[in-house]
Amino acid sequence: MKVINFFLSLFRQAFLDNLKMNITNKTTKRLLIGLIMMLSGILLPAITVLAQTATIPVETANNALVMQVNANKDLSIEYFGLKLANAGEYSQIPGTYRQAADYTGLYNSAYTPSGSRNLLEPAITVTHADGNNSLDLRYVSHKVSEVSDGVSLLSILLRDPVYNFEVTLYYKSYFKEDVIEQWSSVRHHEKGNVILYKYASANLYLKADSYWLRQYHGDWAKEMQPEETRVTHGIKTLDSKLGTRTNLFQPSVFMISLDKPATEDEGSVLYGSVEWSGNFRVDLETDPQDNLRIIAGMNNYASPYTLKPGEDFVTPAFLYTFSDKGKGDASRKLHSWARNYKLADGKGSRLTLLNNWESTYFDFNETKLAELLRDTKKLGVDLFLLDDGWFGNKYPRNDDHAGLGDWQENRQKLPNGISSLVKEAQAAGVKFGIWIEPEMVNPKSELYEKHPDWVIKQPKRDEYYFRNQLVLDLSNPRVQDFVFNIVDNLFTKTPDLAYIKWDCNAVIYNAYSSWQKNQSHFYISYVEGLYNVLKRIRAKYPTVPMMLCSGGGGRVDYGALQYFTEFWPSDNTDPLERIFMQWEYSYFYPAITSSNHVTDWGKQPLKFRVDAAMMGKLGFDIVVSKLSAKDLEFVQNAVKTYDSVREIIWQGDQYRLSDPTNSSVASILYTDGDKKTGVVFNYLVNNRYDHGNKTPVRFRGLDPAKRYRVKEINMYPGETSPVNADLTYSGDFLMKIGFNPMVNSGRTSVVLKFEAAD
Ligand code: DGJ
Repeated sequence: MKVINFFLSLFRQAFLDNLKMNITNKTTKRLLIGLIMMLSGILLPAITVLAQTATIPVETANNALVMQVNANKDLSIEYFGLKLANAGEYSQIPGTYRQAADYTGLYNSAYTPSGSRNLLEPAITVTHADGNNSLDLRYVSHKVSEVSDGVSLLSILLRDPVYNFEVTLYYKSYFKEDVIEQWSSVRHHEKGNVILYKYASANLYLKADSYWLRQYHGDWAKEMQPEETRVTHGIKTLDSKLGTRTNLFQPSVFMISLDKPATEDEGSVLYGSVEWSGNFRVDLETDPQDNLRIIAGMNNYASPYTLKPGEDFVTPAFLYTFSDKGKGDASRKLHSWARNYKLADGKGSRLTLLNNWESTYFDFNETKLAELLRDTKKLGVDLFLLDDGWFGNKYPRNDDHAGLGDWQENRQKLPNGISSLVKEAQAAGVKFGIWIEPEMVNPKSELYEKHPDWVIKQPKRDEYYFRNQLVLDLSNPRVQDFVFNIVDNLFTKTPDLAYIKWDCNAVIYNAYSSWQKNQSHFYISYVEGLYNVLKRIRAKYPTVPMMLCSGGGGRVDYGALQYFTEFWPSDNTDPLERIFMQWEYSYFYPAITSSNHVTDWGKQPLKFRVDAAMMGKLGFDIVVSKLSAKDLEFVQNAVKTYDSVREIIWQGDQYRLSDPTNSSVASILYTDGDKKTGVVFNYLVNNRYDHGNKTPVRFRGLDPAKRYRVKEINMYPGETSPVNADLTYSGDFLMKIGFNPMVNSGRTSVVLKFEAAD
C-alpha cells in the first residue's frame, strides 16, 4: 500500500511540475493545480483507509503472528501459529471461527487499552494530563526494516483519536530461530504529565481447545521447581515484587502448550520470558471466547510512571518462540538465538575454574590461596576464582555480617593485595578471577557510615535485612558511578584479572530512594541504573567473562545475560538435585550459560558429581588436596575429557532423551551441527531396588544414514566399561531402537560418546 501511495504522490508531483512548465495562463494553471490537489487529497486518504484494513503478518521460518487492522482502525491479533504457504489466506482465518460474541471488539487487541470499550485485562492503563482515564488506540501506520541478515523489525504506530497520545509496538523477529522479541514505546504531547499505571511489553492472543502452563517456583537452593497445570478461566499471574534477586521465588520463564501438554518431540508449545532483571508480571487470561490472552512486561506494582510530554517510555522486551514439534525443538531454537544474538560472547569459549567458596568460606590468607593456585594448576583447569571475604578493613569481611561495600583488600588476609595474587596465579600457570557483590552494603561498613543516603531504606521505619545486608540505590547516578568504579578499579589496578563473579544476595525491603523525586519510579530506575553500569562495564571491558550469580539462580534472565557469559543456577550443587534443575533451565538457556561446579554436596560418588557438572560450564569447588590419588587422577582426566567434548556441549544441539521426573534414568544428548559426533549423559535418579536402564535409550538428532561407533568415556580409573566400542550402529537404529548405557546401582552415571564411523 505504501508503494501505491508513493507512486501516487510521484505522479501528482510530476503532473504539477509539467503543468507549471506548460500552461502559461495563470488562472487556468491555478484552477488545474487546485483540482489536482483536491483529487489527490481525496484519493490518498482513500488509499490510506484501505491500508488501515490491512493484514500485517510477522513471519519467521515456521511461524506467523498475524495482525489485522479493521475499518475502525483497531489492531487485533487474528492468528498465531504455523505460517501458511499462501500469506493471502491469513485474512480468511477469522471467518472460520464461530466463537461467542466479543462485546468489546477488543478481546484480541494487539495492545489492549483500558478505560474505553475494554472489559478484560489491559496491556496499558493511563491517566491523561486532564485527569481522564480512558484510552483508545487506533492504527496509524507500520513499517518494516531489515536489522541484519535474518533479523527484521516491524513497528506499528497506534494513536488515541482524542488525546495526543501514542504507542509504538515493536516486533523484532529472528527468522531462522523462530524467535520474536516484542516491546512497546509510549509517548504523548498532552498539556501536562500523563501517569502510566500499566505498561506491558507485549499482548499476545492464542487459540486452542485448552492451554497448559508450565511455570516455575523456588527458593534458595530450590530453584526451577516446575508445575504444569491446565489454564482455567480467569487470570493467572506470574510475577515478582522483590526488586532485586527477583527470581528467588519465581522466574519469568514459562511455557504454554496448546491442546495438550507438549512432550519433547510432539505438541505445540510457546516459550515466553521477560527480558528484565527487576519486577516482572505475566498475566494469562482465558477470555469469554476461550482464547488465551498473554500480557507480559515489567510489574506495575507500586510503580505508576509519570511521563512528561515528548518523553519516550520504552519497555523491556518480551521474548517468545513457538514450535509445533514439541519442547525439544523450541529449546533448540531458543538456544541458537541466545548464542547468536543475546548472550555475551555466546559463540565464544569459556574458562573452567576452581572456586574457593566451599573449601574456605571466609577463612583464607595468602598462604592458603597460594596452595589453591597450585591446586588449580594440578586439576588442569584454566582459572582460580577467589570468592567472598577478600575485602574490608575497619569492618573485615570475616562472615556475612560486615564489610560489604568496602572494596579494599583486607590487609590481614591479603597484605600484598590482589595484584600480587594475580601475578602468583600467572606464575602458577593459571588465570585469576574475583567475586564481587557491588550492589550491596552491610550496615556494618564504612560505605554505610559515609553514605547512608546511598542505601535503600524507608527513612521512618526500622531497617530489615536479607543476609544481614541492604541494597544500594542504583537509581542514583552517583551510586552507579561507585558500582562501575568497583569493577573499573579492579581492572585498572590488575589488568590481568580474567574473570568476575557478580553476586546479588538480597531482595529489596522498605523500597525508598532518597535520591528519587518520585518514589513510584524507583523499581524501574533501579534496573535501568543496573543496566547503565553493566553497559559501561561492557563498553570498557567487552570480553571479560562474567558470571551472573544471585545467591544461586535469583537473577537469571536474558535482560541481564546480554552482559554476562554465564549464570550460577543454584547454590545447591547436589548432583542429583542439579540433574532436575539443569534439566528445567535447559528448556530456556543453552548449556554454555550454566555454571556447574563439582562440590561436596550430595551423596553421589565423585564421578557422578563430575559427570553432572560437565553438562554445561564445568567448574570445581572442592579441596583438591583432600582427594585420594585415584580421585585426583580421575578428575584430571575428566578435565581433559571435558576439553575434548565441551565445544559440542556449548555450541551443539541438545536433546533431552529421558526425563528424570518420570524415569529412573535421566539421559541428555548433545550433538554437533554436522551430526558427526555427540555426547550422551545418563544418570540413575532413583535408588530403589533394581532400577536402571531396562530398555535402550532412543537417541535423537543423528543422521539415520550414518554409522556410529559408541564408546563410554569419563571412566573412573580401574573401571572397565561393558560398552563394546567396536560395534557400529546406524543413526536409524540408534534413533528407532536406541542404545543401552546400562545404568544401574553399580553404574550410577554413564557418559557415552558417539562418532560417525566413516
Ligand atoms: C552466594 C553465592 O551463590 C555463593 O556461590 C557464594 O559466592 C556466596 N554468595 C558468597 O557470599
